[in-house]
Amino acid sequence: MKGIKHPRNDETINPSGNASIYDIIDRIDSSRRTFVKGSVGTTALAAAGGLTLSGLVNTVQAAPVPASLGFPGIGFESVPASVSITASPAAAAVADKVTVPAGYSAELFVAWGDPIMPGGAAFAPDASNTAAEQARQFGAHNDGMAFFPFTGADGKPTSDRGILAINNEYTPEEILTPAGVAGASIAAVRKSQAAHGVSVLEARRRNGKWAVVKTSPYGRRLTANTKTRISGPAAGHALMKANEYLIGDNGSFPTGKQTDGFTAYGTINNCANGVTPWGTYLTCEENFNGNFGANAALPTTASGEIGKLFNRYGFTAAGFAYNWHKHDPRFDLAVNPNEANLFGWVVEVDPYDPKSVPVKRTALGRIKHESAQYVVDANGHLALYMGDDERNEYIYKFVSAGKYNPNNRGANRELLDSGTLYVARFSADMTGQWVAMLPGTVGADGKALRDNANFAGADDAEVLAKILIKTRMAADAVGATMMDRPEWTGARPRIGGFKQIEIYCTLTNNNRRGTNAPSVNKADGSTTAGAARPPVDAANPREDNIYGHIIRWQEDGDTVLATSFAWNLFLQAGDTKTAKTPKPTNNYKGNIVADPFGSADFGAPDGLWFDHFGRLWVQTDQIGDASGDWKNIGANCMVCADPNTGMSRRFMTSPNGCEVTGIAMSPDGKTMWVGVQHPGETATAANPELTSRWPANQWGVESDGLTSLPFGRPRSSVVVITKDDGGIIGS
Ligand code: FEO
Ligand code: CA
Ligand code: CA
Repeated sequence: MKGIKHPRNDETINPSGNASIYDIIDRIDSSRRTFVKGSVGTTALAAAGGLTLSGLVNTVQAAPVPASLGFPGIGFESVPASVSITASPAAAAVADKVTVPAGYSAELFVAWGDPIMPGGAAFAPDASNTAAEQARQFGAHNDGMAFFPFTGADGKPTSDRGILAINNEYTPEEILTPAGVAGASIAAVRKSQAAHGVSVLEARRRNGKWAVVKTSPYGRRLTANTKTRISGPAAGHALMKANEYLIGDNGSFPTGKQTDGFTAYGTINNCANGVTPWGTYLTCEENFNGNFGANAALPTTASGEIGKLFNRYGFTAAGFAYNWHKHDPRFDLAVNPNEANLFGWVVEVDPYDPKSVPVKRTALGRIKHESAQYVVDANGHLALYMGDDERNEYIYKFVSAGKYNPNNRGANRELLDSGTLYVARFSADMTGQWVAMLPGTVGADGKALRDNANFAGADDAEVLAKILIKTRMAADAVGATMMDRPEWTGARPRIGGFKQIEIYCTLTNNNRRGTNAPSVNKADGSTTAGAARPPVDAANPREDNIYGHIIRWQEDGDTVLATSFAWNLFLQAGDTKTAKTPKPTNNYKGNIVADPFGSADFGAPDGLWFDHFGRLWVQTDQIGDASGDWKNIGANCMVCADPNTGMSRRFMTSPNGCEVTGIAMSPDGKTMWVGVQHPGETATAANPELTSRWPANQWGVESDGLTSLPFGRPRSSVVVITKDDGGIIGS
């Protein structure tokens, strides 16, 4: 999310080589399955000697990779950057369409407002659908997603039928309703809330054409008002008890009671995602602070528990101008401050059970969650790797106390409720540490967290609850490394002889890195996040890092229990043709490997995902209209990269003013779904099609070949991509 309601400048559904619903490699197309046997770790790098940071990536790339190690290869040529001006709409600076390589086809799969469940109304192109109608339609501004196959008659996962769970991150208030005024009425607020959350829908291919099963019993919407359960160490804590409301179409009415600390309503700002090996969906709450506001002064920010929390998580009286608080007191921080604590979690959803209650897993910490990538190691221990997307925030790992049981789905249901949350420190010698955030952990001030006033409690159980509710503050206290906006995490599949636990994370950009006056994180838990100005460091080596980079690390001992790791930079994004004046640590050109040179330039990497064949897919989130620093790179795109060599090819470009985010693949690898979010995001209520008319201008009908596409306003959508020869995507 970069848009109007996302701080400017400021995912992952990937099998990790363990038994899972996705681990079906052995059943499909085995002739294609050739994978690398190893990567160049830091041991090899150290042996190379005399490395400089800037030389590091090139050294990795120069390392010989015998053909026998068998990366499956990238079998397409890069599509050109989209920088052309199109005639319609006149204000579009890049081609207002999706492009894919020769030999591939992209079609529209589902768009904002499409019905996805019984009783769903058709999309009204004048935005006159009501909140109740929106609550049965595909939500707005789709982001991370995952495909959950059904089991076929042969007992194997199907590749022509399944469930897609898709996040709906935020809403374009300017075009969400006919008036386009944020928070104009309770009806408008309810529609905005109904367009947030998650869309669960059934996808089916018949006669070669994919379509949403619009009356499927699996169709489901989670919104800002859906009842959820709170579980894990913070459940039931006093900070998790908010005012209780009866939530109705006409308003939210206080009952005069408090909630029980085990119940919350809604999930919002669902950005990237994860899956579990037992076949559930993880939806990650990111910029939840923006949906709140206040009709009176906020609790003091100078001191006091709530004030400190509001400061550290960025709550303000205006929020991001959704104005929900003007009609829905549940989101008014001045009257219901603890409601804020009920968001910022990873929420587990069972897509196969439409009646299941989503669960907020507090053991995973409370941050601006981007994605949650699981890994199960050889001993059955499970970890989730997670980024906190804001400038100068941190990278986290949760390790479950119990082991994953591949033979009993139900036995894993509470696995995410107990374990240890770690935060990462990256050292200049290319090693790193996972620092456990536990009551006894000694912080930078020499005090155990239990003796730090921010986390003090009646007992260690309460201390842990506070550490989790105030995760950012605890990470400050233990001296984590401030990163250049951690977005998606992805685990390289451990297949084809590759055994290491190797995790990648996009660091999308940071225009405050290396600028004055330098600041560091504060041991008192008050690091000012977006206002901080850390100097460059080994892991974030470029000042004014507007194009971003991708970092990766390998867990020591090939276990997720490791408290140390080795890291390097996979690539630094950039514009090879830039004329920007270089800085001492940043020439803005990056070091993307491409053939021909410069043919896969990109910046602001955000979505990141390994397919089950070992290809790395990277999606970008910059302004997307070829303006300013993006005039050569143009539209946002998705590239495919070889994790051995960094060799990248541009697979897809996107419409004007959108981002590419969200990716899923069928088990056989022959269908890929990709998300396009906020096309034409500078639209106005007066002219919704000011800068984009996508997707209606690209296709007359949806992928089913039957459903006509109306003009009226641009719509965030998911496209479905297939190879014309029926082959595996990327091959
Ligand atoms: Fe919603 Fe960090 O992207
Ligand atoms: Ca993102
Ligand atoms: Ca982003």
